[in-house]
Amino acid sequence: MPALCFKEVLFPGFKVLLDPQMASMYTKEEIRALQDQTRAFLKEGTNLPATPEALESLRNVLRFHEHRYYVQNDPLLADTEYDHLYKMLEAVEKDQPDWVTPDSPTQRVGKSLNGNFKTVQHLVPMLSLDNSYNSDDLKDFDRKVLQLSKKNAVTYCVEPKFDGGSISLIYENDLLVRGATRGNGVEGDEITTNIRQIRTVPLSATFSRYGIQQIEIRGEVLINKNNFKKYNEELAEKGQAPLANPRNAAAGTLRIKDPAEVRRRNLEAFVYHISDYTLLPGRELPEPLQTHEGSLKLLWELGFRSPVKELRTFERIEDVIDYCLEFEEGRDGLPYEIDGMVIKVNAIDMQEQLGMTSHHPRWAIAFKFKARQATSKLLEVKFQVGRTGSVTPVAKIEPVFIGGVTVSSISLFNEEVIREKNLKIGDTVLVERAGDVIPYIVKSMEDLRDGNETEIHFPKVCPVCSSELFKEAEEAVWRCINIECPAQVVERMIHFVSKDALDIRGFGEANVRKFYELGWLKDIPGIYKLDFEKLGALEGFGKKSIDNLQQAIERSKTQPLHRIIFGLGIRFVGETTAKVLAANISHLLELQTFSQEALQGLEDIGPKVAGSIVHFFSNTSNIEMIRELETLGVQLTNTHKQLDIAGALAGQTFLFTGTLPTLKRSEAEAMAEAQGGKIVGGVSAKLNYLVVGEDAGSKLEKAKKINTVKIITEADFLKMVQ
Ligand code: IVH
Repeated sequence: MPALCFKEVLFPGFKVLLDPQMASMYTKEEIRALQDQTRAFLKEGTNLPATPEALESLRNVLRFHEHRYYVQNDPLLADTEYDHLYKMLEAVEKDQPDWVTPDSPTQRVGKSLNGNFKTVQHLVPMLSLDNSYNSDDLKDFDRKVLQLSKKNAVTYCVEPKFDGGSISLIYENDLLVRGATRGNGVEGDEITTNIRQIRTVPLSATFSRYGIQQIEIRGEVLINKNNFKKYNEELAEKGQAPLANPRNAAAGTLRIKDPAEVRRRNLEAFVYHISDYTLLPGRELPEPLQTHEGSLKLLWELGFRSPVKELRTFERIEDVIDYCLEFEEGRDGLPYEIDGMVIKVNAIDMQEQLGMTSHHPRWAIAFKFKARQATSKLLEVKFQVGRTGSVTPVAKIEPVFIGGVTVSSISLFNEEVIREKNLKIGDTVLVERAGDVIPYIVKSMEDLRDGNETEIHFPKVCPVCSSELFKEAEEAVWRCINIECPAQVVERMIHFVSKDALDIRGFGEANVRKFYELGWLKDIPGIYKLDFEKLGALEGFGKKSIDNLQQAIERSKTQPLHRIIFGLGIRFVGETTAKVLAANISHLLELQTFSQEALQGLEDIGPKVAGSIVHFFSNTSNIEMIRELETLGVQLTNTHKQLDIAGALAGQTFLFTGTLPTLKRSEAEAMAEAQGGKIVGGVSAKLNYLVVGEDAGSKLEKAKKINTVKIITEADFLKMVQ
């Protein structure tokens, strides 16, 4: 392996080592050898390297994986496997300080390459956190903190470890002047315009109240699970491959060149650390900045989203451990992804006393939750036909246990994904399952191929009905266009009974398939013609379950119209479009009369969606099917128009003024919007409600003069929302 060439970059109090020549430095043979050594070290388990030579070979292994991760952005190891090796190195170096070399991975900050945005230097390097995985690791951390600080007691803060893209924000004279990505920890990409699109980042904050002239803040950008799901559904409706997971979606979005697109993706930011500040002349250190807890509260007060609600302080490490485990259990119930907890010494003077290594602060540690990544083998690829005829490749892998679930089957979305990831049967693949997000293949590890891997051939004909497959220009998906294709018929029925459509509880995919195979269910109207006596004779169907099913089918007849529209499974018509359509008709069959132009005149309906709707309603068998549903008692008139379409505050305008007693203004606005209300910029005759808090000024005076504006308190508003 070529000798590394290091450049020293000096910062006040820090010595950071950078390597300027890290691009593609390994030959194929070296990669194989290093990979063999990696496996050997991982297999060794607790047997640590016992000679300086063995330790140097472990360092080489780590350097190699850092290079893959930071420089090539193409890791060959799961994060936890890397952490395990890193900890082995640290443990030996701690025991044998004489064996430490200046170029050890423990002695430097990683480097990444990204030339697209302007590169800027962080005021203070953004270091990583040391990791822990169990209670013993945390007890060790506690022992070290007490020992190094020479104290007998310490207060710890515990907060979530957010799993997104890390950012640094600089405010000068109360204004946001710069936002940057972490980059290599020393330098990052300047992404201020994108950061400005994140609504949880205030564009100005009155730091001057605390005597602060300039401040650098650290945080994490996330996309919540709901927005992530919605965004992926939109992509799927457009026939595009979904984004892999919320973390990649957030980190990737930060680098998008179109700020409007960044805004559309609804990113959120949590801030969790103040890394640097300068005081105004003559001002003294404000009290809140003397503790971590105080700093987060100060940020919260100034309008930032800091984890004050999640933060707990403890004196005993056992309590810290309990809280971490409690949070891990509730992890899936959170609206956003977290991959662990962070434990920090609360007192800032103690943090300073403990200091940093070149890699991480000694006053903080991450407690990592159970891994949700694993490596496995790609055994075969099957092709599934969806309700719109789309043919989806599904990877069958050697079963692996990830985050409490065994994964053996993973969607590959379309042919392009197979090509982009260059997947082959027999490949070793890295698999990830992020929270309640579906598992996906991160990548194949091409360097581990032995030549026995085989190509994946995408079929030319439908794997179910053998009709020829078609692909439209600009689409990634191959389709079977035979609408009688049995696979499509079954999938359409599964969709119709599903939770977001007619929500027929107790029906479900398995029953649709079973009744179809028995020849008792042929199409959607058939759901309302089932012979329950016959079903009663089936094994596993007791009287109670048949009664429940019958009732659920009966109830579904009065579901709101938009659910039926969505349930019909018209291509590109998701829940949002279904609601728009329902809002504009009083009977389902009115949609027959809408021209392409008329549909395009509706909110958020473009030519592609409009074309698909026209196509669906000009097909006589679809119209016959709808008529039959009506004859069978399914209500096709719009009775739920007002409530279902836009929420309780639909069509009402709101403005908030003054300090509200419990809500932040942004929260109140979000609540109003969530219920269909609209926020307006000023007081005018167009305003319906002015919600006033303490010290409401000129807006209140102006509103009093317009008698159509209703002036209400936060309590009145909360009643309306609830
Ligand atoms: S504190 C100097 N707190 O985790 C210490 N980091 O794996 C600054 N992270 O680079 C970091 N949540 O990007 C801190 N509550 C939290 C965090 C957090 C997520 C990220 C951060 C860091 C990475 C380390």
